[in-house]
Amino acid sequence: MTTAAPLTAVVTGASSGIGRATAARLAADGWRVLAVARRGDRLAHLASQTGCEVLEVDVTSDESVAALRARVDDLFGGRLNALVNIAGGALGVETVAEADLDKWQGMYDTNVLGAVRVTRELLPALRASERGDIVLLTSTAAQAAYEGGAGYNAAKAGEHMLADALRLELNGEPIRVIEVAPGMVRTEEFSLVRLGGDRAAADAVYDGVDRPLTAEDCADVIAYAVNAPHHVVLDLVTIRPLAQAANHKVARHRGL
Ligand SMILES: NC(=O)c1ccc[n+]([C@@H]2O[C@H](COP(=O)([O-])OP(=O)(O)OC[C@H]3O[C@@H](n4cnc5c(N)ncnc54)[C@H](OP(=O)(O)O)[C@@H]3O)[C@@H](O)[C@H]2O)c1
Repeated sequence: MTTAAPLTAVVTGASSGIGRATAARLAADGWRVLAVARRGDRLAHLASQTGCEVLEVDVTSDESVAALRARVDDLFGGRLNALVNIAGGALGVETVAEADLDKWQGMYDTNVLGAVRVTRELLPALRASERGDIVLLTSTAAQAAYEGGAGYNAAKAGEHMLADALRLELNGEPIRVIEVAPGMVRTEEFSLVRLGGDRAAADAVYDGVDRPLTAEDCADVIAYAVNAPHHVVLDLVTIRPLAQAANHKVARHRGL
């Protein structure tokens, strides 16, 4: 009797939050996972806890992403079943009138160009596997604008268009393009990074909200999508906590 080889995945943004939970979840599901981000200490901890392979990668660097491709060739024999693009995030909450263009550039560089760079580099390995998935972790910020959100709205909407164009371009090939768009997810760093390290302001984002989504909730959805029979494509999955009806419509209970 022969045993099928484990499926292989690269997960970006795996040093914290949704990426970390997704890498851990896929490893627990029996996938061989190469988990990548910039911070090696956090990756080493993930490796020791989950058995994931890890590599320090900056998705904004051509050289770093070329090294990722070389590692995929070494580790997985150049055959990759899933690329899960999670690296990214938001920088700032300035209005358009007060826009900080360096932050806008930073959000475009990671969420859009980072995802394109990694996808372009790993597409040959996804093709070689003959059972490929490209997951793009966008946001409900891609679907509706909000005050103070324009830079992030624009970046995530750009990433959404990347998913849609890729799906058309890859039609007829054995590669699914899956977009997962969460609303409010309480992760350790997302709001802290967005708000420049202001802990009180970051905590206030979730103030009085009954059970924001967790990183594990998102990882569940991603795992469902990539483990589903390969002819079944979850094109776009929007997930929100029950307390959130829209980006700007969140039930908050004071004194919970
Ligand atoms: N939390 C939410 O409410 C929410 C909602 C919808 C969508 N999202 C999206 O979900 C994704 C993950 O968010 P999260 O909440 O898990 O935030 P997080 O904890 O801040 O995670 C962001 C991850 O991206 C990595 N990253 C950032 N810049 C990178 C770069 N240049 N190269 C490589 N890795 C980089 C970070 O690792 P290093 O710093 O170690 O590189 C980190 O692992 C993001 O794309 C975010 O926009 C979040």
